[in-house]
Amino acid sequence: RHRVLSGMQPSADSLHLGNYLGALVNWVRMQDEYDAIFFIPDLHAITVPQDPAELARRTRVTAAQYIAGGVDVEKCTLFVQSQVPEHAQLAWVLNCITGFGEASRMTQFKDKAQKQGSDFASVGLFTYPVLQAADILLYQPHGVPVGEDQRQHVELSRDLATRFNSRFGETFTVPQPFIQKESAKIYDLQNPTAKMSKSAESPAGLINLLDDPKVTAKRIKSAVTDAETEIRFDREAKPGVSNLLTIFSGISGQTVEQLVAAYQGKMYGHLKTDLAEEVVARLSPIRDRANELLDDPAELDRLLAHGADKAREIAAATLSDVYAKVGFLPYG
Ligand code: TYM
Repeated sequence: RHRVLSGMQPSADSLHLGNYLGALVNWVRMQDEYDAIFFIPDLHAITVPQDPAELARRTRVTAAQYIAGGVDVEKCTLFVQSQVPEHAQLAWVLNCITGFGEASRMTQFKDKAQKQGSDFASVGLFTYPVLQAADILLYQPHGVPVGEDQRQHVELSRDLATRFNSRFGETFTVPQPFIQKESAKIYDLQNPTAKMSKSAESPAGLINLLDDPKVTAKRIKSAVTDAETEIRFDREAKPGVSNLLTIFSGISGQTVEQLVAAYQGKMYGHLKTDLAEEVVARLSPIRDRANELLDDPAELDRLLAHGADKAREIAAATLSDVYAKVGFLPYG
């Protein structure tokens, strides 16, 4: 079986609907077909300032949502990045074959650094994509399922794999980016030309997996639409309605065309009411299950430690190959 690997940052109190429909649903589908590895990149999270207690809590909350959303620890490997030290170790080696200019061209760094201000942006933030390359290359995956926003980082991991292989001999599998279709991209409900993101200015456009169902329903019903009345898909002219249709399709499994046909002649209010109901029905059991898992943090930690043990077996083999190829002395 081919291997796939992906991760989502523990940087909010809840995953949002973009993470869910754009990534998690896809992961759950993939775990049946692939040897799947999913992890929580907490080392990446500290590239911007984090409150320590908050980070620990969010790491568990993220893990609980992966599992509640359908990630099955019996079928795949699920772990927390900082519990597998090989990530940081390989990242160092890869840092030493990455060009300064090459790292400077990463657009996500430029965006995030600008937000932090150049005196506050950390060196960790600068080498973030190199750590991501280490995450990937340690496990020799065939594919890395991510959204379009992560494409450049997967490309860097391909470049570094190829470079290492040609300099030191065949070591890494060169991974393919598995980019989710544009149709899996979810936009902010209040600002439907910007992607749904935890760093949005206002939470009103965000649907969180762990929010109270009343809040979720209210946000959907208050979503921005337009002055027309016709329900049709047109990303340019009708970004708000199109986003609602994308979400509806992702949640219900009906195609956008089927939905447009079903809502012909109906009003936006109808669409919103039905969508709110569908989303709440889908997310409520996930929320309940996540909260149940969070009631027993010791058991959750045990599951994650078990995942880290499984991951380490693979990661340690790759790292020791890399260390030997680079010329580090064998240990013991
Ligand atoms: P992160 O945590 O920003 O995002 C996790 C995944 O969610 C997707 N996504 C969305 N999809 C649809 N609509 C949206 N509004 C939306 N917002 C986010 C992202 O494309 C992504 O697939 N650097 C990575 C984490 C990472 C990683 C890795 C991923 C670290 N190491 C190794 C893959 C392999 C990140 O910050 O993703």
